[in-house]
This record gives sequence, structure tokens and C-alpha cells, in this order.
Amino acid sequence: MCGIFGYCGGKKASEILIEGLKRLEYRGYDSSGICVGNGSKFSVYKRVGKIKVLADTLPEKPFGHNGIAHTRWATHGGVTEANAHPHTDCNEKIAIVHNGIIENYQQLKDKLLVKGHKFKSETDSEVIAHLIEEVFNGDLTKAVKQVLPMLKGTYGLIAMHVDCPDVLVGARNGSPLILGIGNNEMFLASDVNAMVAYTKQVVYLNDKEIVTVTPDGFTTSDVQDNAIHKDITMVETDGESFDKQGYNHFMMKEIAEQTEAIKRGMVGRLNVDEATGHLGGLNMDNAQLLDVERIVLVAAGTSYYAGMTASYLIENLVRIPARVELASELRYKNIIVEKNTLYFVISQSGETADTLFALRELQRKGAHVLGICNAVGSTIARETDGGVYIHSGPEIAVASTKAFTSQLTALYIFTLLMARIRHLSFEQGKEFINAFNELPALIEEILSADDKIEQIADKYYKSQSFMFLGRGINYPVAMEGALKLKEISYIHAEGFGAGELKHGPIALINEQTPSFFLVPDDALRDKNISNMKEVKARGGKIIAVCTNGDDEVKEIADDVIEVPKIMPCFYPFLLVVPLQLFAYHCAVKLGRDVDQPRNLAKSVTVE
Ligand code: F6R
Repeated sequence: MCGIFGYCGGKKASEILIEGLKRLEYRGYDSSGICVGNGSKFSVYKRVGKIKVLADTLPEKPFGHNGIAHTRWATHGGVTEANAHPHTDCNEKIAIVHNGIIENYQQLKDKLLVKGHKFKSETDSEVIAHLIEEVFNGDLTKAVKQVLPMLKGTYGLIAMHVDCPDVLVGARNGSPLILGIGNNEMFLASDVNAMVAYTKQVVYLNDKEIVTVTPDGFTTSDVQDNAIHKDITMVETDGESFDKQGYNHFMMKEIAEQTEAIKRGMVGRLNVDEATGHLGGLNMDNAQLLDVERIVLVAAGTSYYAGMTASYLIENLVRIPARVELASELRYKNIIVEKNTLYFVISQSGETADTLFALRELQRKGAHVLGICNAVGSTIARETDGGVYIHSGPEIAVASTKAFTSQLTALYIFTLLMARIRHLSFEQGKEFINAFNELPALIEEILSADDKIEQIADKYYKSQSFMFLGRGINYPVAMEGALKLKEISYIHAEGFGAGELKHGPIALINEQTPSFFLVPDDALRDKNISNMKEVKARGGKIIAVCTNGDDEVKEIADDVIEVPKIMPCFYPFLLVVPLQLFAYHCAVKLGRDVDQPRNLAKSVTVE
């Protein structure tokens, strides 16, 4: 989704801005632009398409030491150069970049038009530059503070003015903004990844905070001019992870990294001596956890499916009700927050607007909300009452893969902890930990069968539509498999509970619509086999993902992907990997932009 970046220091700003934008590329965008202060005027460059196109149009010679930059993911107005940011006022003295949505922009624009302002774009964001123009009186911070109360909606923004050389003013409300502190240089960005190559010292801004930046310092305050003290944090993000390290795509690299990511998520969190889990970040002791009578997991997309998988495990092992809620729905449904209920928000990026606003709505109603996040220091991680970092490392490909299995890792450890406080015996806890420890090697085994999965993809990738079917704890995995396939290959795919087949989806079965069946040797295997036979009887092709050596399944299915045997509740970890690989190979064979599929963004920071 949109990314913003600002630089203020002694170096050639255009080069630093382009580098920063490249590090925001993974979030998904359709156009980009930069504005560099250049003496008494600005130089603005914008292009539709890849950052490389923008970089190729910039002049060689240095032209300024401060500037702002943006990657745009269109919301208001088509994908055009005019709509790309930065946006300027009528006299091209003020430039802004903005993430978020200004909901009342039309009313503001109408008033500005009456006053004679000339607009160059169809965006909501441009009104901000014109509003600053209206009130500017020599002090940019003051002007921004006058404008912010007029804006209804969300923003992470940076403004600059030709009359205030070496000054950037940033503000946030519902869209992330981070300050990076360098050596006589400062950075502002919506994503810490944009600046890690230059500095590891950052300040996370909160909503309603405004920051004024010069090369040698910064001040933070609110719109009422109250100074706000901010702590400096050291980030540990590893810049090298932005390298494909020999893989053709980040997605394949991240699929392969799952074994290591799961191991990282387990380190220090499985207590073998007491056969339980240990999660210090929850900020809750065992007595408090014992009081929990219900669990609600809130998330979007792949993170939602991780939560749904965990809801099955929690009900089964902890024996308390657990349910999952779509963040985008919860936010507006006037949810009933119940006592003795523990809420989790799950988000890889920690910046998903739907999930963030659901978190705030829950907290407003008095809920205790924990977070499961990957991005350290992200807004959700900071605003939750405690939680767990999944430590899967930066996920660059838009399609989420390793975050899913790492989210499961954290949720499974939490379940073990909760179950051991209640009914799970020491012996059962030990068996659970033993199975957990087997996972990385078993996933490695599945990864080594990639050639076979590629061959199966080769046979089916021209199909127009796929069904993914699973039952019980593997039903969410079926939906995740369908999501993976549709988002990167653009092939239509639907995930269903296999038991639902007869209630409607079976009408879709024909020779052109292959079905993926998740049929491990668990308690529901025979039920799944019956469903496979129903599909077969109607001429449907079947790709089955089953446990090694399941001859009965092999006899019915047209193609089989085998996974090793494990304690049944751990199958989601194993079954999802072939589905990720299948989606990947189909997308490659169809010539899709695997890491940055059309219309999608990595971090969905607007509603
Ligand atoms: C799918 C995908 C999305 C995200 C969803 C939530 O591959 O990546 O469905 O899972 O947008 O994102 P986070 O987890 O960052 O809140």
C-alpha cells in the first residue's frame, strides 16, 4: 500500500529518496514520485509504474539536500502521473505526501475551488497542500497544526515549503509514521524498512502527534502546541533480508524460510521441563490466564485463517470457547465485549487498518487485547496490552506464507500454555512439544518434493477454477490455499469445508474444475474420502494432499502430494506448504508478477 519517505540532511536527497522508495516497493504500488528542495523552488518528478522508471528520469547532477517521496496505491483517482504524489499547492511552494484517506476532501475542495485554488489531480490528498497554502504565514509547523483539525479521516503525511529550507513536518492519525535519527540527517517514513540502511535509531510517532525535523534535530508536539517527549528505540531489522538470496522470487525464498522461521518462533518458548509454553510478552500470569473463559481472535486475510486454525485447537485442547472475527466486520458490528474474555489481534504487518481499528474499538469497550505481530514496533504491537512477536523476519512478497506458519507457531504455544493450566497432563504436554519439535524437519521434507508439486502445477495451471476442501482444523488451511492461488495466479479458487460440498458447491464440479482435498490421517479422513468419491463420481479431477503411503487416497485421486505423519493437530503446518508451492508454480507458469500481484498491497493501511 502507499508508502511515504522524507529526507533532510547533507546528502544528495534524490538518491536517498529513490533508495527509500525501493525498500517500500514490496508493499505494492502503482506509481511513485519525489519532490526535492532546490533553492527557491521544488523539483517534482512523478511516474506511473516501477520505481526504476522514476529513477531513470532523474537528472544526474545533485539538486538538493531535502525532499519527500511516495509510492501510491490508487484509492481516489486513477493511476496517472497527475494523481501520483507529491502534491503541490497553486504556487508550487508547498509539497506534501500522504497515506490514508481524507473523507471530507470533497467539501474541503469545493470551498478551496470557490477561493480560486487550482487543482491538478483527482486525489483526496491534494487538498492538504492547498489548505496549508491558505494558512501559511512563515511557520510550516504552525500551518500544518492549523490544517490537521480540518481533516476528517486518516493520514500519515509529510509536508515541506520552499520558504522553510531544511524543514520537514510530519503528522500521523491512523496511518504509520516513523522518525529515523541519523548523523546530521533525519528520515521520516511510513515503514521502518525504508530507513534501516541509514539508521537504526527510530522514534515511533503516535496518532495526533506532529514532528518537525531539521538535519540536526526534531521536536514533537500535538496540535495544541504541547511538547511531547518521545523515546528513541533501536530497531533490529536486518537490511540483508531484502535480498532474494539466489531465489527467483521473494515468495519462494519465504516459503523455504519457514523451517527457520518456525524454529525462531519456538526458541525459549517451549518449556520441556514443565511441558508447557512460555510467552513473557503476554503480561499475564497463570492465575489471570486461568480466569479466561473465552477467546476471540481478530484478523484479516491469511492472518484470519491462522486465527481460525487456532480456534479449533484452543477449543479442543483448552476446552473453552474460541471464535474468530474478521477485523473489517468487527469494527462496525457493535460487538459485545464479554467479561473474562481474552481478545487477540493477529497481524503480520501490525499496520492493517481494519485490524488496528478493530483493536481500538475493542479497547474502547474495555476489552483486554493481545497482539500477534511480525513487524517489531508496528502500531498494533505498540497499542495492544501485551502479545507475542512471531519473529518470522521481514516478509516481502505480497502473498503471506511464512507469517502464516509463524503465527500458528505462536498460537500453538499459547494453546499449550493455556491447556497445561487446565486439563492437559504433563505427559500430553510433552507429546505436544515432541510433535512441535518435529515440524521443521518435516516441512523440510515437503519442500524437497517441490519438483513433484511443480509437475502437478504444470498439469493444472491452465484451469479456470479450483476448489479447496478440508475439514476440521484443516478447513481454514483449505481457504488459505484458495486465497494463495487466487491472489498470485489470478485463477478463481474457493475454499470450503468438505462437509459443505453437498450443500451447494458440488454444483460447480465438472472435468474442468479440479479439487484439492486435504485428507491427512486424522479422525475425519474417512469423511473426506467419501467426499472425494462424490467428486470423482461427477467427473471432477482430484489433487489430494494426504499422509505418506495412504493407498486408499492414492487410488481415488488423480494426483497426490504426500506429507509426513505427525500428531493430527499439527497437520495445518504441513498441509499448507504444498498449497503455497502449488500457487507459486501456477503463478510463475502463467507469467504473473508473483511478488507484487496486481491490485494487491502488502500492508493494507486504508480501509
Ligand atoms: C494474503 C495476505 C493478506 C494479509 C491481510 C492481513 O496473502 O497477505 O490476506 O494476510 O491483508 O495482513 P496483516 O497480517 O499484515 O494484518
